[in-house]
Amino acid sequence: MFLDKKRQKILKKVSKKEPLICLTSYTAPIAEIADKFADIILVGDSVGPVLYGLESTKDVDLDMMIKHAKAVVKKAQKTFIVVDMPFGTYEKNKDLAYRNAKKIISETGADAVKLEGGQKISSVVKHLTEKGIVVIGHIGMLPQSYDGKYKVYGKNEAQKKQIMKDLNLLQNSGVFLIVLECVIEKLAQKIICKSDVPIIGIGASKDCHGQILVVEDLLGLTNFESKFLKKYVNLKKIISDSISKFSKEVVRKKYPSNKHMYK
Ligand code: KIV
Repeated sequence: MFLDKKRQKILKKVSKKEPLICLTSYTAPIAEIADKFADIILVGDSVGPVLYGLESTKDVDLDMMIKHAKAVVKKAQKTFIVVDMPFGTYEKNKDLAYRNAKKIISETGADAVKLEGGQKISSVVKHLTEKGIVVIGHIGMLPQSYDGKYKVYGKNEAQKKQIMKDLNLLQNSGVFLIVLECVIEKLAQKIICKSDVPIIGIGASKDCHGQILVVEDLLGLTNFESKFLKKYVNLKKIISDSISKFSKEVVRKKYPSNKHMYK
């Protein structure tokens, strides 16, 4: 199988046991920064809740993903870029899935698409990979099936069995790597052991081949709370303090000062 340079670089890091840095990005300024650090950038459908205040990732559409992916690709030329296929654009019909995946890749210049699910969508994944689309899988907690409660996956035998089945089916369908979300650690470790492709964790295990977080979450810009989320800075407070200062200076006529006016 032909592997482009970006995928070769990712697999080389995995073979050297160097953890992969994966970040989400929806906008040009974040993409420009992420391009310096990331091995993989995901234009996630979390863009809906995070940037647009939508209730769920289910409300995101193809045009929204394409617009954000274009902005990201423009500013992150070095990094392998993955775009989420929105809910309703791939699950039921493999020809429609191919048309939509092709549209995403050709209009944005991204490297791959990500689809959520295992057994239920494995024939769609196979169809896409056979037609040359690079596909990233996503198993465990699936935000597009999210019913309002962000649950940890893998607590009962049925879920444990299902996820191993999902893993095998996705691997056999040709995925390049898999995102594993919100899964109890022991099960995540079993998945990593059994997997032939790199596993990127979010709320899974430090043994994953890489880790991903939503950038706005790790920056403390969203209200999202979860055991797995580490907030590295409280950007909400920093922004609020700065806007408060600006407001006060406008009221006191301290801004704009001579320095900020055209003479
Ligand atoms: O949409 C997204 O940002 C994701 C990550 C949470 C992995 O799927």
